[in-house]
Amino acid sequence: MALYYNQDMDLMEKIFALAKRRGFIYPGSEIYGGFSGFWDYGPLGVELKNNIKKEWWKSMVYEREDVVGIDSAIIMNPKVWEASGHVEAFTDPLVECKACHHRFRADKVEANACPDCGGKLTEPKKFNLLTEVYVGTTEEGKEKAYLRGEITQGVFVNFKNVVDSTRIKIPFGIAQIGKAFRNEITTGNFIFRSREFEQMELEYFVEPEGEKAERMFEFWKNARMNWYISLGMSKVNLRFREHEDVERAHYAAKAEDIEYKAPFGWSEFEGIHNRTDYDLKNHNLKYKDEKGEEYTPWVIETSGGVDRAALFFLLNAYYEEKERVILKLDPRLAPYKVAVFPLLANKEGLLKEAKRVFDIIKGKFNVVWDDRGNIGKRYFAQDEIGTPWCVTVDFTTLDDETITVRDRDSTKQERVAIDKLPQYLENKLHS
Ligand code: GAP
Repeated sequence: MALYYNQDMDLMEKIFALAKRRGFIYPGSEIYGGFSGFWDYGPLGVELKNNIKKEWWKSMVYEREDVVGIDSAIIMNPKVWEASGHVEAFTDPLVECKACHHRFRADKVEANACPDCGGKLTEPKKFNLLTEVYVGTTEEGKEKAYLRGEITQGVFVNFKNVVDSTRIKIPFGIAQIGKAFRNEITTGNFIFRSREFEQMELEYFVEPEGEKAERMFEFWKNARMNWYISLGMSKVNLRFREHEDVERAHYAAKAEDIEYKAPFGWSEFEGIHNRTDYDLKNHNLKYKDEKGEEYTPWVIETSGGVDRAALFFLLNAYYEEKERVILKLDPRLAPYKVAVFPLLANKEGLLKEAKRVFDIIKGKFNVVWDDRGNIGKRYFAQDEIGTPWCVTVDFTTLDDETITVRDRDSTKQERVAIDKLPQYLENKLHS
């Protein structure tokens, strides 16, 4: 019977330790004592994150005729953030302990007492989350700018460029993936709340009509939920939650989150927002349709966090079965698709043949080589990082040019001819 750890608080500890030990995620600037709210992705983490982004781009851009992608600058003219309302309204309520001077988000502390020392807290004041930077080569000429607090504004400021340089017509979407920065008052829960993170967003422009916008809102909300489910997230760990009036961001007329049942409670990792004409109006941008009629489109936005998705895919995939730990990641998300082993590392013939097999598949799939320890240990090491298939070259291989393919989840093995292996793996990956 498999132990399913999703409900356990110590699951976070296990994922945290596994992520560091196996090269998914490391604390940022660790050799200098770390830097609160910043994380680095290791060799396996970057693969996981890239796979999430690749699948997202495939479903949001390549599989649609009405969506194009962009990649805008992280630092923009500061006027963008004034017009967007972020300089004024992108704030969280901050309280400070009068005794130890630690700072907290007012909406996250209970009983008006300092969570660290129990001291009295100040009245909440607005704290702006935009991260300031200074751009320029001389002291006098340096200009204050901001690292983008959401990747979204880069889409709006390019709205006209995209319309003028492509053939898309309303309704259409602009997709983008990239880093965003927020000077969060409190960071925590591993990569869940950090100061530098990545977003994957779609801004979908529709005619300015409430009912049409509402229909698209429902469409995208369901499409996004189904995407997570299609990549293996368990339905019982997912739900929608609509924002109440007081919690909605300054730009949103309606907002619903997709939440995951994390060990630290139900937590948002994607927001669907009806931003109406709020942004395009503020940037003074309009759309002219084929009849020459001019109007300000409305926007339905889907805004997901790549890091939070990575964390929840990891939590969702973690299983312990007897003495083995398995990450049952969907093969499309798994960092390595295949591991190749010679049965014994000290037999020249096996090594040579295994290298040949490795070379045959290496350009087609992300493949890893392992010849350490015994075969059982190698299987366990691959299970723990989610590698769906392990290919072993044994003595039979030298006679008949077949290898064994061992399946991560069932542990069943199949013999496959070497020349059929790429197609075999391709079929498995897309089955
Ligand atoms: N453009 C809309 C927007 O940015 P948001 O709800 O503020 O909306 C969208 O952010 C997503 O970005 C969140 O659902 C979350 O996944 C991710 N995100 C936001 N703040 C984050 C943080 N401090 N650390 C990690 N991810 C964050």
